[in-house]
Amino acid sequence: MGLVCAEAVGAKETVVEREIALNKRWRKTKCLPEAYGGNRANLWMKMRRHRVVLVLCMAGLCLISFMHFLKALSYITFSRELSAFSPSLRSIFVDSQFFWKPNVAEDVNTGLGLQITPKAQSRGRPPLHRALFELRDDEAKYFLQTKAGAICFKQGTKMSVTTVEGALDWGRSAIDKQLAQKVASRGWSGRPRRRWVGCPCLPGWHGPNCGVPTMVQYSNLPTKERLSPRAVPRRVINAVNINHEFDLLDVRFRELGNVVDVFIICESNFTAFGEPKPLKFVEMLLNGSFGYVGQKILYVFLDHFPSGGRQDGWIADDYLRTYLTQNGMSRIVDLRDDDIFLINDADEIPAHDGVLFLKLFDGWTEPFAFHLRKSLYGFFWKQPGSLEVVSGCTVAMLFMVYNGDGIKLRRREYYLMPNFRQYENSTGHILVPWAVGSPLHFAGWHCSWCFKPEGIRYKLLSAQNGDFPRWGNYQEKRELSYIRELIQTGGWFDGTEQDYPPADPKEHMYAPKYLLQNFDKYRYILENPYRKESWGPGPVKAAEIYNQTGRIT
Ligand SMILES: *[C@@H]1O[C@H](CO)[C@@H](O)[C@H](O)[C@H]1NC(C)=O
Ligand SMILES: *[C@@H]1O[C@H](CO)[C@@H](O)[C@H](O)[C@H]1NC(C)=O
Ligand SMILES: *[C@@H]1O[C@H](CO)[C@@H](O)[C@H](O)[C@H]1NC(C)=O
Ligand SMILES: *[C@@H]1O[C@H](CO)[C@@H](O)[C@H](O)[C@H]1NC(C)=O
Repeated sequence: MGLVCAEAVGAKETVVEREIALNKRWRKTKCLPEAYGGNRANLWMKMRRHRVVLVLCMAGLCLISFMHFLKALSYITFSRELSAFSPSLRSIFVDSQFFWKPNVAEDVNTGLGLQITPKAQSRGRPPLHRALFELRDDEAKYFLQTKAGAICFKQGTKMSVTTVEGALDWGRSAIDKQLAQKVASRGWSGRPRRRWVGCPCLPGWHGPNCGVPTMVQYSNLPTKERLSPRAVPRRVINAVNINHEFDLLDVRFRELGNVVDVFIICESNFTAFGEPKPLKFVEMLLNGSFGYVGQKILYVFLDHFPSGGRQDGWIADDYLRTYLTQNGMSRIVDLRDDDIFLINDADEIPAHDGVLFLKLFDGWTEPFAFHLRKSLYGFFWKQPGSLEVVSGCTVAMLFMVYNGDGIKLRRREYYLMPNFRQYENSTGHILVPWAVGSPLHFAGWHCSWCFKPEGIRYKLLSAQNGDFPRWGNYQEKRELSYIRELIQTGGWFDGTEQDYPPADPKEHMYAPKYLLQNFDKYRYILENPYRKESWGPGPVKAAEIYNQTGRIT
């Protein structure tokens, strides 16, 4: 007891420590002088002490449980839609074991306590739109450690080094597990920095590890000096609303299938205009059309149309993103603070290398955008500049700053969010938004209205009731002959003409690689289908270039 009495109650910062301090103060007042004399009195004292110890133990236990509850609550209140996270809440009460099981993932976290894991349903398979998704660590070996100690990114390093004797895979299983986790939580920069003997980089790769692609090297990332490879890659979550952009979805899966860990795909039985529509995506999912991405799809079904969405289309437009994020994220088991959340429209396809960089490196800031190559009707009608769209951040930031709502991330108003400063403080760095790529070095593609004429017509009809003029309201704009003419000339529904000549397929980043490799199947978005002979020879056809050189750069 002397120990208890002697302890000072210091100034405490956190709620938890304040609780402990309060508890100690309480114990102090209950403390009796050690030198209290007399045998009977001594015996009485002993009994009383035991009772006090017992009471203290109970109080301590209560306190610990309460603290865990608070921790869980603080996570849940980040979500505006409490109901969306009710499975997590339930699991706290039902699965009391949760508090005591050792959490291996804890070290990898920045300590925001996001890994509230709803227990996977054990009995019976839940319907597709309720199934939970378990995120796993990517076990691929992305780095090699050379004998001299350099850590080289395999894909960006010349083979002479990667085949050199003594070079070992570098990653979680290659090195001591404990070290891997330390590295993951602190970043490689936590170690004394050493000038690596170096990795000889292939063209297009930069940095001491040859892991920085050109699109990041020439970006406005302010912390290029601070980058360090991760032993345990981040997990990447890519959330998308799908309407009828199935070819572009195919392209997304092919481009990002091996860097993204889960695609959250949301489909509604309503169009953005509020009309009923068939659930074609889930049909394709069930008949195996997307079997090649393996078990990486989390299906979200939006079965209602938001009230007010018919009068104000923007409500419907925003609600799609909100529902996509909240429903999807609440069904992912074992989220970590440092996982990446990436939200796109179906026609925005980030490039593989940029996303891989985010996955494998620590030291970048957030939120981040992508500079996308802009085109209309097909990759042949390239538009000037780039589309810079804010679309990603860590899971910690998504919940702490954006209340777990993807539409807020896309609105660029991070500095107005009430928790932004607090979150910034918790990261220990100044958060500066940046964009992967630049207007000259694209980091992906935005292919707007990239459909066959029938698809464009469907898009006109299903467009939300906002963003006026709504061209779908005009009979003559819905005519297929009119639409074909637009594709032919690159014009817009308002009568304006395309200022730029058709793009040259030889151009770097003309289109995602998968499209060029399957040129015949996707010819309608790679080559102007209504091109006139009278326009002259024009650029050499992309397919021929691909045939001759084996690649398009
Ligand atoms: C959409 O699905 C929900 C749930 O199955 C159903 O109640 C609703 O009537 C459907 N709406 C349309 C327009 O089909
Ligand atoms: C799957 O369903 C889609 C949509 O109905 C259809 O277009 C496609 O051909 C089907 N694929 C297979 C392999 O059955
Ligand atoms: C930031 O964190 C430090 C301690 O880590 C604390 O003293 C300070 O008050 C915090 N500032 C804000 C704005 O939360
Ligand atoms: C490309 O090569 C394949 C096989 O050699 C051939 O069948 C195809 O017609 C070629 N395509 C073009 C556009 O030259």
